[in-house]
Amino acid sequence: MNTPVTIYVPGDASACSLGADRVALAIEAEAARAGRAVRIVRNGSRGLFWLEPLVEVATQAGRVAYGPVAAGDVPKLLAAGMLEGGTHALRLGDIQAHPYLASQQRLTGERLGIVDPASLDDYLAKGGYAGLEAALAMQPLDIVRAITESGLRGRGGAAFPTGIKWQTVHDQRAAQKYITCNADEGDSGTFSDRMLMEGDPFALIEGMTIAGIAVGATQGYIYLRVEYPHAARALARAIVIARARNHLGDNIRGSGKRFDIAVRLGAGAYICGEETSMLESLEGRRGEVRVRPPLPAIKGLFGQPTVVNNVVTLATVPIVLARGAQHYKEFGTGKSRGTIPLQLAGNVKQGGLVERAFGLTVKELVYDYGGGSASGRPVRAVQIGGPLGAYLPASEFDTPLEYEALAAKNALLGHGGVVVFDDHVNMARMARYALEFCAVESCGKCTPCRIGSTRGVELMDRIIAGRADSSRNGAQTADLALLDELCDTMFNGSLCGLGGMTPFPVRSAMKYFPEDFQRPG
Ligand SMILES: Cc1cc2nc3c(=O)[nH]c(=O)nc-3n(C[C@H](O)[C@H](O)[C@H](O)COP(=O)(O)O)c2cc1C
Ligand code: SF4
Repeated sequence: MNTPVTIYVPGDASACSLGADRVALAIEAEAARAGRAVRIVRNGSRGLFWLEPLVEVATQAGRVAYGPVAAGDVPKLLAAGMLEGGTHALRLGDIQAHPYLASQQRLTGERLGIVDPASLDDYLAKGGYAGLEAALAMQPLDIVRAITESGLRGRGGAAFPTGIKWQTVHDQRAAQKYITCNADEGDSGTFSDRMLMEGDPFALIEGMTIAGIAVGATQGYIYLRVEYPHAARALARAIVIARARNHLGDNIRGSGKRFDIAVRLGAGAYICGEETSMLESLEGRRGEVRVRPPLPAIKGLFGQPTVVNNVVTLATVPIVLARGAQHYKEFGTGKSRGTIPLQLAGNVKQGGLVERAFGLTVKELVYDYGGGSASGRPVRAVQIGGPLGAYLPASEFDTPLEYEALAAKNALLGHGGVVVFDDHVNMARMARYALEFCAVESCGKCTPCRIGSTRGVELMDRIIAGRADSSRNGAQTADLALLDELCDTMFNGSLCGLGGMTPFPVRSAMKYFPEDFQRPG
């Protein structure tokens, strides 16, 4: 039998939704028919979604990519010599040299699409566990200091300094502490957590282990949304391997240190991404927001000191330890240090993952990477930071994607999702949608959110109908003033960010697109 040719066919959910499983089967069948041995690796996605399924063949001259490949293309691809990197209309060559990737600064996502997510050896060969190795040689407090020094802020949405959170948990005296990973990823247009868990699960496991050693926690939980079955499988497999090879368990890498991880599936409610709701859900109760104080860092899971961090935050930790806080800090701008995996989605030609140092402008992201709208029509707006994020019009596209610049515009970066809309979008309908989303997803604990969101939907229905009703001129103005007042109440009076931040999309739509709310003429 000839030496098998290694072929990478992403097992990532986005690639699978575009037919990657069928492509893998077709390659196996066609290679068998041709008497060629192949070894198919189900890697993560590189994050160039318009090219998925993106197949890569390991040749003498390096990896050669083809895409987007359909199962029906496979016979012709093999006939064209794909197994040797042969020429074909779908041949993309070295995908690393593609401008979309070559211009990125991938740190957290540096192994995405490159490693076999089911292989600890592959992870180790590509620099994995260098961070934990460094951490094991340090005092816990020095690990916390390194994270503080790096300037790393939480990537789940609130951008809270990770080192300060860890320090608080470190400083608590308790028989049991916990590391919890928030993998609920409920924001619209976001997928970086999913891609990391599916494509590089050991990075998250390593980051959680370092966090455990730093703060004195021996047990970790990953709270994963049930809609992520590919990620659940990838994590379950990686945890078993890590445990079997002493990278989890009672004697981590021979250090005598103990840390283990379990995955818990949530039922898929947006509010379960809010950290205190997540803790309630982890404890087996309905996902409802807890009143703070006490902070989870002091009294969190099962009443014990608990770190709650997002997937991207934790998967970034090994880089800080392996390369030093200073190295990480050199990326970024102002108080936004390091890189951010931006996720480009919606009506855009080239959607996908763009990891860059903070400071890239919206325009660069939408046009240089995204190539403009998929419909070919002018881009009218982007929503940044999920369903609770502000809408920005084209006139604001020079805004840099970093925390302070966006805050200055009453906007937020959140988890880094950017959703593109063309000029067919009706912004009054988008404002209504934000309020409806809040009404559907509200946990119901506080009045401004539970009642306010429903009243807001009713108001928006009147405002939308009022645009076409000339008898409502005065009433329209009064309804818009009432909507503004309602936003004030929700912003100031809500217990958590769901009710408190719904005014961001509503108010930004009113501010930048008044013509969609007011009566014409
Ligand atoms: C309504 C709501 C939903 C949230 N959803 C998520 C989520 O899906 N994933 C996440 O990591 N953080 C989410 N957060 C933020 C978390 O409450 C928390 O700040 C975060 O998990 C802390 O981790 P980090 O410091 O690493 O960002 C949400 C917050 C709110 C108010
Ligand atoms: S703002 Fe909404 S989701 Fe948050 S606690 Fe109040 S009712 Fe629950």
